[in-house]
Amino acid sequence: MNEIKIFSPASVANISCGFDVLGVCLNNIGDEMVIRKTKKKGVVISKVHGDRDIPLDNKKNVAAISASSLLNKISINHGFEIEIFKGIKSGSGIGSSAASSAGSVFGINKLIEKPFSKNELIKFAMEGEKKASGTAHADNVAPLICGGITLIRSTTEIDVINLPIPDKLFLTIIHPKIKLKTSDSRSILKHKVSLKKTIDQMANLGGFISGLYTNDFNLIKRSLKDVIVEPTRSILIPEFYKIKKSAIDNGALGSGIAGSGPSIYAMVKGEKKARKVGEAMSEILIKIGLEFNLHVSEINRNGIKVLSKK
Ligand code: HSE
Repeated sequence: MNEIKIFSPASVANISCGFDVLGVCLNNIGDEMVIRKTKKKGVVISKVHGDRDIPLDNKKNVAAISASSLLNKISINHGFEIEIFKGIKSGSGIGSSAASSAGSVFGINKLIEKPFSKNELIKFAMEGEKKASGTAHADNVAPLICGGITLIRSTTEIDVINLPIPDKLFLTIIHPKIKLKTSDSRSILKHKVSLKKTIDQMANLGGFISGLYTNDFNLIKRSLKDVIVEPTRSILIPEFYKIKKSAIDNGALGSGIAGSGPSIYAMVKGEKKARKVGEAMSEILIKIGLEFNLHVSEINRNGIKVLSKK
């Protein structure tokens, strides 16, 4: 095999109660990447279509950074060229850098006949995430490599748990067309958290996970709360609380900031309701004249997908 084309999906990290530890893979929104073997060693980003802000430079491009960390671990006498077709807007909060970071190592691993495990690929992809946000976190890359909903128990020794997905669980995501860099929305976070808030957050994370295991939508609803990060970050997102309220008033189980924002997610039971929630969320941004993209997605159980091979 000399060439592979993959679909690398968008994702929603945090899911309110799981800052830096929960992530969900989306279905119908993502990037395509073509990865080809080259005679020359190393990695080259040949072209990025659909986003002029993404650098080609190997020291700045997250796909190249994660690919290089993989290539440093093996000895092969050829290299790789990566062409990226962006479907996910950078700075939107739904894992644009993760799609590139995870996609490049997933694709290269296929071309070199899979010597690396999923956990090793997560570790390589985290190098790209480190460049994008200043901190190596795995909550966007893990659901892409493992599929579904993932819990990151540890990133020191990578320990990722695939959580069960209750039937008919949908995510509605509204992306107000403003850009937020993850490094910026991380830089405003408080580093000291009260014991009371820590207890509340732990209890909600436990409740959410328990709800997934037991198909208890009511417990999921009660648990989708973020008392630590959302109060600080929400100031960066126009009409955040109005949008969140309209999602919940229209039947969402919960709603919050998608990753580091500005996108806002709502978790909803059933596709019809997920679309209705999307309309309600949209109305708030229409009122203030802010352009947006709207996505309604089932949870993608498989993660990154191979589209073709040559
Ligand atoms: N957990 C990360 C954050 C996800 O919220 O900063 C964004 O990359």
